[in-house]
Amino acid sequence: MVRKAVLPVAGLGTRFLPATKAVAKEMLPVVDRPAIQYIVEECVRAGLEDVLFVTGAGKSAMEDHFDRALDLEAALAAKGKDADLEVVRDLADLATIHSVRQQEPLGLGHAVLMGADHVGDEPFVVILGDDIVDPATPYLERMLEAYERTGRGVVGLMEVPEDQVHLYGVAATEPGDRDGEVRITGLVEKPDPDEAPSNLAIIGRYVLTPDIFGVLERTPPGRGGEIQLTDALQTQAEEEPLVGVRLDGRRFDTGDKLGFLKATVQLAADREDLGPEFVAWLRGWLDDEGDAAADGGTGGSR
Ligand code: UTP
Repeated sequence: MVRKAVLPVAGLGTRFLPATKAVAKEMLPVVDRPAIQYIVEECVRAGLEDVLFVTGAGKSAMEDHFDRALDLEAALAAKGKDADLEVVRDLADLATIHSVRQQEPLGLGHAVLMGADHVGDEPFVVILGDDIVDPATPYLERMLEAYERTGRGVVGLMEVPEDQVHLYGVAATEPGDRDGEVRITGLVEKPDPDEAPSNLAIIGRYVLTPDIFGVLERTPPGRGGEIQLTDALQTQAEEEPLVGVRLDGRRFDTGDKLGFLKATVQLAADREDLGPEFVAWLRGWLDDEGDAAADGGTGGSR
C-alpha cells in the first residue's frame, strides 16, 4: 500500500521571473487555486493523505495555504460568508501536510532524498509541484495500480515531439505487459536529440521504492551539476526494468509561462461555473482578432 506523497517545491522557478522573485511558482493561481492545490487534491483522490513538501527559502505560504487561518475564518463567520468559510476550512482538512527544508537547491534527486526520514521503508509517490495533470484523468491511480501489480518503481511518461526531448528525462523502453505500459530499461536526463533513446519523456510523477534513497546517496551530481533523480532511476533500471505508464490525457507544466497560460485557459474552460461564459468570450475575442488581422489592424478587446 502506498500512503505517502513527497512533493518537491524547493526549486527557484527561474523560468517564471519576475513573478517568482518573492512568490513560489507553486503558489501562482491557476483559475482560483494555486497550482500546488491541484496536486494535493490529486494525491487525496488517489488515497494519499500524507503529504510532505520539500520546501526552500520563501515557500512558507504553501504551508499556510493548507493550515487553519483563524482570523480569516472569524472574519468570514462574522460576515455570514458561509460558503467561503467552508472552502477555507476544507483546505485545512484536505490532507496531513508535513514539510522539510532543502537548504540548497542541489537538484530534484537531492530534494527527494530530503524525504528519506519521513518516508522510511515504504514505497511512496513523488509529484513535482508545478506539474498538473487534467483532474478528470485518473492517471496517478493507474500508476499506483501498476506498482501494486509489479512491485517495481513506476515512472510517468508522455510522448513529446522530437524537438522537445532535450527538455526532459527520456526513457529507453521495451513493450510492456499492458496497453499503455512499457518496460523502462534506461533513462537519460535532457539528452541531445540525436542521443535520445525515444520520444517518451518523464513527466512529474513517480511511484518509488524506498531503496531509491540509498541509490540517491551514491549518485554524483549530473546534468547541470545537480543530483538528478533520473540518474538514480537509471541505476535501478540497470538492475531490473522499471514500469512506464503513458499519459494520454492533458498535462501542464505550470512552471513555464506558456504551459501556465494553457493550464489557465483549459482548466477555466472545463469549469461548470466559469466555462460557458469564458469560452463564449474567448470565441468572440478570437473572432475579433481574426477580423482585425484580416483588416490589417491590431484587434479589439471586449
Ligand atoms: P525545475 O526543473 O522546474 O526547476 O524543477 P526550478 O528551479 O523549480 O525551475 P526553473 O527551471 O528554474 O524555472 C522540477 C521540480 O523539482 C523541484 C522544483 O521545485 C520543481 O517542482 N526542485 C528542483 C527542488 O525541489 N529542488 C531542487 O533542487 C530542484
